[in-house]
Amino acid sequence: MSESRPSAPFGIQIENVSKRFDSGLVLDGINLVIQPGSLSILVGPSGCGKTTLLRLMGGLDSPTEGRLELQANNRHVRSQMSEGIGYCFQEPRLLPWRSVIDNVALPLELKGLSSERRLSLALETLTLVGLETDAAKLPHQLSGGMQMRVSIARAMVTRPRLLLLDEPFAALDEISRVRMDDELLRLWHETGVTIVMVTHSLTEAVYLGQDVHFMAANPGRITESLKVELESRTPAIRSTAAFAEWVALAHGMLAVCEGSVA
Ligand SMILES: Nc1ncnc2c1ncn2[C@@H]1O[C@H](COP(=O)(O)OP(=O)(O)OP(=O)(O)O)[C@@H](O)[C@H]1O
Ligand SMILES: [Mg+2]
Repeated sequence: MSESRPSAPFGIQIENVSKRFDSGLVLDGINLVIQPGSLSILVGPSGCGKTTLLRLMGGLDSPTEGRLELQANNRHVRSQMSEGIGYCFQEPRLLPWRSVIDNVALPLELKGLSSERRLSLALETLTLVGLETDAAKLPHQLSGGMQMRVSIARAMVTRPRLLLLDEPFAALDEISRVRMDDELLRLWHETGVTIVMVTHSLTEAVYLGQDVHFMAANPGRITESLKVELESRTPAIRSTAAFAEWVALAHGMLAVCEGSVA
């Protein structure tokens, strides 16, 4: 499926980024490198600034200080972002009156593509998330997990070079979430897109993330980054002792972020 592969996935270089709202300093001196084609995870306590950081990465907001730079093929792309980036909000945010395929095709409509091209790309993307047979349905006819997959397909339909996912599976039951984790890995392998995802689940973080970045609050900052080295990322690994050790390590790091351990 060559059309699914973005031309060159984006990396992100984040240097000394701070974000201040009227309410105060939310992010303080963030330094982070996201490698092109990698799958990185952000975890941290509620309110520590994960969504704020993801929005900055997506160009949906600007930093008060510091620099975020997109890179492709080791070259700076541009500082003003949003083109080439797919952003997935925590809720599916589908238009209830539009069919699944018309929801997915919406970004292409906004770009002015012909109807034929829109539908062909949207159907191809629905296949990527395993929903090609549900194309004609309305959102309310789908389960929560399926709606989230439609939302991911909509973020992917323009073939972004960077996919930003804000707690995409938070509302799902454990079984659906585990299944979605594997779907996401498959999509990542098939497209080669760079993914940055926020999650509250450390099991999910360890299973998916090559790099897991831990954030602490007040003000939001990166406290630790963990390189997870698993033998494989297949369902069987979840029940191994090695996997449990990585999750335990991640729990220890999160406890430090939350200040429950000195
Ligand atoms: N537009 C805004 N204006 C003012 N304050 C904001 C704005 N957006 C976020 N904040 C504040 O910034 C802080 C971080 O919010 P953010 O949503 O980034 O946290 P989070 O880590 O994503 O939390 P959660 O895990 O609950 O989603 C919070 O104190 C929030 O109130
Ligand atoms: Mg958030």
